[in-house]
Amino acid sequence: MAEILDGKSLASLIHEEQAEKVQSLSPKAGRPPGLAVILVGEDPASHTYVSNKRKACHRVGIYAPDINLPASSSTEAVLETIDGFNRDPAIDGILVQLPLPPQVSKEQVLLKISPDKDVDGFHPANLGRLVAGEPGLVACTPRGIITLLDRSHIPISGTHAVIVGRSLIVGKPMALLLLNRDATVTICHSKTHDLPHITRQADILVAALGRPESITREFIKQGATVIDVGISRGLDGKLKGDVLFEDALQVAGAITPVPGGIGPMTIATLLDNTIDAYRNHTGLIK
Ligand code: GUN
Repeated sequence: MAEILDGKSLASLIHEEQAEKVQSLSPKAGRPPGLAVILVGEDPASHTYVSNKRKACHRVGIYAPDINLPASSSTEAVLETIDGFNRDPAIDGILVQLPLPPQVSKEQVLLKISPDKDVDGFHPANLGRLVAGEPGLVACTPRGIITLLDRSHIPISGTHAVIVGRSLIVGKPMALLLLNRDATVTICHSKTHDLPHITRQADILVAALGRPESITREFIKQGATVIDVGISRGLDGKLKGDVLFEDALQVAGAITPVPGGIGPMTIATLLDNTIDAYRNHTGLIK
């Protein structure tokens, strides 16, 4: 039976460490860290994600004003809001929750966020730094996965990591982070032939394809570490990952559950990125 990698407990521990950091740094900086989480429209899933992010900020002492823009907002209105926070010295990080309503240009929005406040790591300047292996802000889910692997003492260097999914939010930055840590990396996607043949070679398998319970034991090498990034609600109302959990448990060496795996780590990492940006802005470098 696989070891269950408890992202929820680790995220709680990280939040405690973050609260201590914020408490010790705020008097030196003369202010707490600040994160602007911008929600455009009323997508119910986005609402839940944003509310969890804001709650986590309040828990560790990060100033996090609520910014809710109407679903009918124009690209210009969103850009103006971002510009206000780019100039606001109380704000270290800006996050615009995706997806955006169809009339709002995602490209223009992501480009508008000042790279030093880009806690999602989606700005081309930060993506370029990641490609070059230079320090910069890195997307929260992939960075959170690296933290979970490191804190669980799972080695990365020299392993074969296979990522299923090539999104900007997870697949691509995940591949680069693992490569920068000396893994041999394979990226698979919807056009990959004989997916199980490739995933069975993985020492670390990251499932981020967005197809509930599609990764079964046939896709997994005995003893592999399986990271499940998927999250969707089944017809029975239960949350499901991209991995068929009970099946994978029989062959994997270690596995993240859904819920309680990668989701809480993503939020903990958003706060890490915000604290990193705050240290950069206030000169309180580690
Ligand atoms: N939507 C789903 N995941 C994310 C994320 O990591 N950041 C943002 N901004 N939106 C998302």
